[in-house]
Amino acid sequence: MIVENIIEKPETIVPRPNLQDYDEMYGTFEWTSAYDRVEWNDCGRLNAAESAVDRHAESSLKHKVALYWQGADRDEKYTFLELSSLSNRFANVLTELGIEKRDRVFIFLPRIPELYVSFLGILKTGAIAGTMFSAFGPEGLYDRLHDSGARYLITNSSLKRRVYEIRDDLPDLERIIVVDETDVAEDEVSYPEAMKSASDTFDVAKMLPDDPAFMLYTSGTTGKPKGVVHRHLAIVQQHLTTEWVLDLHDDDIYWCTADPGWVTGISYGILGPFSCGASVVVHDGRFDPDVWYSIVERYHVTVWYSAPTAFRMLMRAGDIYKNHDLGSIRHICSVGEPLNAEIVHWGMRAFGLPIHDNFWQTETGGILIANYPSMPIKPGWMGKPVPGITAAIIDDDGNEVPNGVEGNLALKPDFPSLMLEIWKNPAKYQEYFMGGWYLTGDRAVQHEDGYFLFVGRADDVINTSGERVGPFEVESALIAHPAIVEAGVIGKPDPLRGEIIKAFVVLGDGYEPSDELESDVRRFVKTRLAGHAYPREFEVVETLPKTRSGKIVRRMLRAKELGLPVGDVSSLE
Ligand code: PRX
Repeated sequence: MIVENIIEKPETIVPRPNLQDYDEMYGTFEWTSAYDRVEWNDCGRLNAAESAVDRHAESSLKHKVALYWQGADRDEKYTFLELSSLSNRFANVLTELGIEKRDRVFIFLPRIPELYVSFLGILKTGAIAGTMFSAFGPEGLYDRLHDSGARYLITNSSLKRRVYEIRDDLPDLERIIVVDETDVAEDEVSYPEAMKSASDTFDVAKMLPDDPAFMLYTSGTTGKPKGVVHRHLAIVQQHLTTEWVLDLHDDDIYWCTADPGWVTGISYGILGPFSCGASVVVHDGRFDPDVWYSIVERYHVTVWYSAPTAFRMLMRAGDIYKNHDLGSIRHICSVGEPLNAEIVHWGMRAFGLPIHDNFWQTETGGILIANYPSMPIKPGWMGKPVPGITAAIIDDDGNEVPNGVEGNLALKPDFPSLMLEIWKNPAKYQEYFMGGWYLTGDRAVQHEDGYFLFVGRADDVINTSGERVGPFEVESALIAHPAIVEAGVIGKPDPLRGEIIKAFVVLGDGYEPSDELESDVRRFVKTRLAGHAYPREFEVVETLPKTRSGKIVRRMLRAKELGLPVGDVSSLE
């Protein structure tokens, strides 16, 4: 394999990277040796919220700004001490309501300070925090709230309308906590009122390392989204990878653009960076190149963590970065989808810095493979495994394959941030493991120098703008439309979004393809799932390719779409 355009790092980097000598650390590091990097209580207990925030509220960092919040027309900031007190208050609010350990408390909010306060407060009680994008429609909400059996939901006055559309189908949901209303219905709680009277001291629940802390729903090829549950111990990995990969130092101003509805927004938007005592910038607003550059400029952002689609959109916006002083940026990282070599080189041109790719998943809770500040970058490659992570390429029988050969990207399941369970679905959890390996579901290649190259998904999961979308969910939403009897959905390569969703649909009797029908279907799916999950392309077909047992063969749809060979068709109808 030819490797071109390696970007070497200068001999002296300022500030000195936290991870100086990758090879030495990789050769000697063990997770258990790092447990004391986060706050522990007697008897080997911890609480990730205490590790992230409270311990700094009692240290010399207590008056340091933990959160710089930028809304559409105002801003706020919170010190570690303030975040600690506010989350204590919220933990008391939940305790008053009768919360118990392991109860599920879900948050359905835009990126406002209350989201961060309530997330930390939930963890402090020992309950499990669940997060949901504010773009979710009733169906996306129902899938999550119903499957998790959420007891409480925190939302605002405008988003709660979507919850009321499905409220009657959620028998476990006891209370809706509304962050921006004081006059609320009987089974609602006013957040401002309850916070006013709550104490700002709280006896934080001391959890076992393997006790659950938070959960997120993520998509696979089949079935509805699955609840991935993470443990309190995950903070050890989130802390260390924040140090090594994001390279946060004491005086950094760090901006993670991810929403906490996505695992990146939790592991590297809340837990990891706060645990490292960093100042975190949160922007509550949509993507806009000019606004984004203004935020870097306004807050003097030094370390920036975002995703390839965002960088591609910034690249497409052209030279407007020249209108802003972006000189504060010293380190840039990217995750969620393949980072094209072209974008890494654009980073060099626009910011004088390469973009550092890294790889992980909702299920792994923390970074697994990365390019480190102290290591040369091979644009297009994901980098090398984090110290403490054993990664390998294996064939379908679980045997390791030689360097340079494509196979399944697998990991030894012995790292602290690996998911604890799939909620109420042990069989699904087991499907991730084979012969002592955890299977990522991704195909990759390892070069003899140790770098990994991403090849693609091993299954039909779609990655559009870094969002993971299960074809089954979109197909289910499509066939709920009266005009559609069958649907098959694939990811189609797209230069901006990585992939876009393309739907092949069979119409029912009496329906004809038309532009009106197409936009109606699009709107229908959009309001049911979430904004990103609707098909950008449609094609009406007579029939869909199926196996003899009736399963839609999406690989044939994809081959047809891309003009590729269709492969083995012996098991097809
Ligand atoms: O297919 C891989 C892709 O995103 C998947 C994980 O998606 P999600 O669970 O939403 O995780 C988001 C948090 C990281 C992976 O299985 N992926 C993630 N990072 C990369 C990537 N594909 C290529 N390069 C990456 N750096």
